[in-house]
Amino acid sequence: MIGPRPPLRRQVWAYLIYWVVAEEMHILNLAVHPQRRRRGLARRLLIQAMTHARTLGAQVAWLEVRPSNQPALNLYYSLGFQEMGRRPRYYEDTQEDALLLAYYWEEGEEE
Ligand SMILES: CC(C)(COP(=O)(O)OP(=O)(O)OC[C@H]1O[C@@H](n2cnc3c(N)ncnc32)[C@H](O)[C@@H]1OP(=O)(O)O)[C@@H](O)C(=O)NCCC(=O)NCCS
Repeated sequence: MIGPRPPLRRQVWAYLIYWVVAEEMHILNLAVHPQRRRRGLARRLLIQAMTHARTLGAQVAWLEVRPSNQPALNLYYSLGFQEMGRRPRYYEDTQEDALLLAYYWEEGEEE
């Protein structure tokens, strides 16, 4: 093609970053485009990723979240995550603590 490429019209609506190591899933980052929120995207992404992690042998999923992040907390609690502890001054920008949440799969729960 000669000349500049036409602008890409595709847009990322949501992403989730996780890894699975030694039977543990770690959820590192999750975000949904501000104009695409409250449509179930984050819930679907999380369920899909957790199902994948389970097939890889995960027994527990861990994540950190700001105590002030009520939307994210509602999402995680609705999926069965539970508060396991706090990491003091975890977030550099605000010096906020992190809540440490975990989800333990039940024995026999979909593998
Ligand atoms: C948190 C976030 C990922 C949720 O994404 P989303 O696609 O809007 O979430 P969903 O539509 O799947 O909502 C699932 C549930 O989360 C909760 N929730 C989501 N947004 C909420 C809000 N603004 N207020 C209260 N609860 C909310 C609700 O329980 C919701 O279920 P419901 O719609 O049946 O009530 C999104 O708000 C975001 O990207 N925030 C900024 C980045 C961030 O905080 N990431 C998490 C870091 S730990």
